[in-house]
Amino acid sequence: MKKLLINICGCLMLLLSMGACSPVSDDVSSPDGRLRFSLSRQDGVLSYTLSRGESTVLAPSRLGLVLREADLSKNLKIEKVSRSSFSETWQEPWGEEAEINNTYNEMRVDLLAGGEQPMKFTLVVRLFNDGLGFRYEVPEGQGLDALTVIDEITEFALPTDATAWSIPTHRTEYYENIYRDAPVSRLDTVCTPLTLQLDPTLYLAIHEAALTDYAKMNLTSTGSNRTTLRADLTPWSTGEKVFAGASLTTPWRTVIVADKPGDLILSRLMLNLNEPSQLTDTSWLEPGRYIGIWWAIHMDTYTWSQGERHGATTANTKRYIDFAAAHGFAGVLAEGWNTGWDGDWTKNGNLFSFTQSTPDFDLQEIVRYATSKGVRFIAHAETGGAASNLEAQMEEAFALYEKLGINCVKTGYVGALIDGKERHDSQYGVRHYRKVVEAAARHHLMIDNHEPVMPTGLQRTLPNLMTQEGVRGQEYNAWATDGGNPPSHTVTLPFTRGLAGPMDYTPNVFCHTNKVHPETRPGTTTAGELALNVLLYSPLQMAADAIENFENLPAFEFVTSCPTTWAQTVVPEAEIGKYITMARKERGGNRWFLGSHTGEQARQTNIALSFLDKGATYRARIFADGEGAHYAGNPYPVAISEREVTADDVLQLPLAPGGGAAIIFEKL
Ligand code: NOJ
Repeated sequence: MKKLLINICGCLMLLLSMGACSPVSDDVSSPDGRLRFSLSRQDGVLSYTLSRGESTVLAPSRLGLVLREADLSKNLKIEKVSRSSFSETWQEPWGEEAEINNTYNEMRVDLLAGGEQPMKFTLVVRLFNDGLGFRYEVPEGQGLDALTVIDEITEFALPTDATAWSIPTHRTEYYENIYRDAPVSRLDTVCTPLTLQLDPTLYLAIHEAALTDYAKMNLTSTGSNRTTLRADLTPWSTGEKVFAGASLTTPWRTVIVADKPGDLILSRLMLNLNEPSQLTDTSWLEPGRYIGIWWAIHMDTYTWSQGERHGATTANTKRYIDFAAAHGFAGVLAEGWNTGWDGDWTKNGNLFSFTQSTPDFDLQEIVRYATSKGVRFIAHAETGGAASNLEAQMEEAFALYEKLGINCVKTGYVGALIDGKERHDSQYGVRHYRKVVEAAARHHLMIDNHEPVMPTGLQRTLPNLMTQEGVRGQEYNAWATDGGNPPSHTVTLPFTRGLAGPMDYTPNVFCHTNKVHPETRPGTTTAGELALNVLLYSPLQMAADAIENFENLPAFEFVTSCPTTWAQTVVPEAEIGKYITMARKERGGNRWFLGSHTGEQARQTNIALSFLDKGATYRARIFADGEGAHYAGNPYPVAISEREVTADDVLQLPLAPGGGAAIIFEKL
């Protein structure tokens, strides 16, 4: 009898370890206990659910990777589960908050894939109060020198046909598209961040963190109801998704879970899932506002190429430097300073030199002149997509910039493919962009990267990666044939692209006259445009308009006062694609700056000023839409006023269609 019992117990244990008595599940909760991640294994397949209290956030969703060498999505056995907790507060050298709290519970699940080529790997799960991150780690020492990812099985199964704000992955270059809302079941393959509303108090944003040597994750709707989103990695031109050595660590797959839209913006989960700064000295990083020989090129007043209308001449750049010095701007960009722009540069990227200036532009003299006026010259390095041409010149060019005293480079990759063959968001692109940021760090250069792979928080690790484009920015208000960015665009971006990190949208175009495309113009009013300085975060932020258009503009005072790095951020009111009000406190001072913007509809704000210090009185200097303002036909009226306010006040300001308000609060 005893022998029989031992046998039954032994058999039961064996069955349990093999997973025949399934499902077997393992859980981990957020530090506040509100979110729960449950892992289960059935028939050798791994899936998870995510819940918030009693509600399902994600229904059973599969996990796994398919390598050419081994299938890590089937025949899985859980070998060991370990748990730990972590809490720290870290400082950002620049950003939307001075201090960031990073508190989570972690579960590490060691797995064995028992296919033809058995392989061990680990699923690492972190639960924060504001969401989830998980990733796969394949350790080395398994007898293989190279691993190749063929597919990633990761799913995010939504319990309902939620509303999603998305841009399609295909037919969109460099993420420059208008976000549309549609039910998940109707989505094409889309990019992340993908923002979702499941019910009036449940918002999600699916994205990734720490994409450093992998392919970008896109999402495709699958399943019978098409409400399960499945990872769709951008391939190499040869079809593989990722090449790795003997070990592999994927980026974190992230899900922010929020009660209201504004809380999506306040989540710092993506940054927390990136590695701490590799730069021990960050004193040389200089967030700030810049101007440039830029808008006038996009408006076809100047050219990038040499000739009569060449914009980046020594004389013209000095004029911009004088203006910058007079108005306290940190930097001046001059596009077209180097050789390679003549002819069709979008097809001949290999002709760009990053050290040779045009005969009418004296680089050394410009940097000397700028430095003497306390202004930085920003070097421009457009590649036309020829990334390898930049890589070949990078060390020499970056060393030259450093020697001259340049501290910032704007890079660009216009072209459907990088180096004529690989996609910007492939592992090839990801590797290139990181290489540039690393080389720039060695030469004390800040990077403003245009046409990037979607950002994933790498700026925590390499904080000289200041800002990136990857957004349909202001330039579309110069030459887009659809009339430019509609008002709803800039009140959608903070909840979508903005969740991926700083955006070089380049606000501050105030003149709506457009001689080449008369119907194309910013979809906002002057006061609304001011608000973008607060709403669209970028530590290097442009005052984009031609400098002539800033003359005699009383509202310009807001632009020159507004910082680009913050101690604290709050979102008093917001509805995705409809309106948003955000307030940010300056670093090293007591002033708050507020931006409010509405979409196509006029509205009255209802801004609780409870973010101000209790018991204190502030002077609010308000830049609001003036009488009759309207983004479409009458963008210019601005009403500038002052009043005293306290934390107990609620501000009700009328916003014009496509309009806004910008406010400076000064403590008295
Ligand atoms: C596209 C960039 O977004 C824009 O800022 C730049 O002026 C052009 N490429 C040329 O580099």
